Amino acid sequence: MNTKLRLDQVAKSYGPVRALRPTSLDVPQGEFLTLLGPSGSGKSTLLQILAGLTACDQGEVWIDGRRSTDTPPHDRGIGLIFQNYALFPHLTVAQNIAFPLEMRKMPRAEIDKRVARMLEVVQLPQVGNRLPRELSGGQQQRVAFARCSVYEPSIILMDEPLGALDKRLRDDMQTEIRRLHKELGATILYVTHDQEEAMAMSDRICLMNDGGIEQLGTPSEIYFRPRSVFAAEFVGHANFVKPAPELTASDRCMVRPENIRILKEGEQADTVVEATLEDTVMLGAFSRHIARLATGERMVAVNWSDEKGAPHHPGERVRLGWDGAKAVMLSAERGR
Ligand SMILES: Nc1ncnc2c1ncn2[C@@H]1O[C@H](COP(=O)(O)OP(=O)(O)O)[C@@H](O)[C@H]1O
Ligand SMILES: [Mg+2]
Repeated sequence: MNTKLRLDQVAKSYGPVRALRPTSLDVPQGEFLTLLGPSGSGKSTLLQILAGLTACDQGEVWIDGRRSTDTPPHDRGIGLIFQNYALFPHLTVAQNIAFPLEMRKMPRAEIDKRVARMLEVVQLPQVGNRLPRELSGGQQQRVAFARCSVYEPSIILMDEPLGALDKRLRDDMQTEIRRLHKELGATILYVTHDQEEAMAMSDRICLMNDGGIEQLGTPSEIYFRPRSVFAAEFVGHANFVKPAPELTASDRCMVRPENIRILKEGEQADTVVEATLEDTVMLGAFSRHIARLATGERMVAVNWSDEKGAPHHPGERVRLGWDGAKAVMLSAERGR
């Protein structure tokens, strides 16, 4: 593995607030890694330490195998995009994109060539002479991406770049950013608090909680094999079932909704519980069933919708079942 970025026991406090606990992280060349976590979990702090915009209290930052803890931001070869991407309003799109190259005193002909290519890459070849205010939000975001990528940084850090956009535009931009990632071959660190966005975009997800890494893994590892109650609850819906007597009280058993079946007459499963159906919602491809166990626990089951299947009614007694292999044992303790 060719390590592009490395954090070694990096920590940061603001007075009494531990924004980042001692944290180590290796990011391979070309990876799309997402920092996912609730507000205040330390995502932006981690990103800003990498960018050199915030000094860490302890630990080391390595970029391309070089110790870079004290390297100034502009010497780190890093491109940055934040939620408020602030294009220069009085410069045209082409001038905005050219700006970082002019700062680097690149020859005019080379600048024009690169700007034209970046406009192609972000699929806006016609708008070079427009002002930012003459573009839609999504187009402005693409220009911001072009401006940050034009000098070919091998690392791009993005802090909630789609936070201000509406749902439809976010979906389009997610696809766009994935495509640009492939095209440019850059290593991308992407921050979001939106679990679906993290799942859709990432090679790996670094789940953050309370200033530390809760779990690091591929989207499917985090979803199917969460290592803590926090991870199970933050990504997707988690059904928790009371532990068997031989387990300690803090251990819990977690089953995802799509792994719980409403059993037909006589149908068996490794684990079967009786419940009362409270609600069924048909969502198109899927139907979601909400059931209450005798213990008062609520369980959510999701199945493919079936037009011909027996309809379920609120108040109906049902048997819910799942395979043992689909149940995940979790400790209430931190996964770290
Ligand atoms: N400049 C700052 N001064 C004081 N506290 C800060 C500062 N930046 C961040 N914090 C605190 O550090 C913690 C982590 O913040 P942050 O990294 O911004 O989280 P996130 O990006 O995950 O929402 C929060 O408790 C936040 O209030
Ligand atoms: Mg933040």
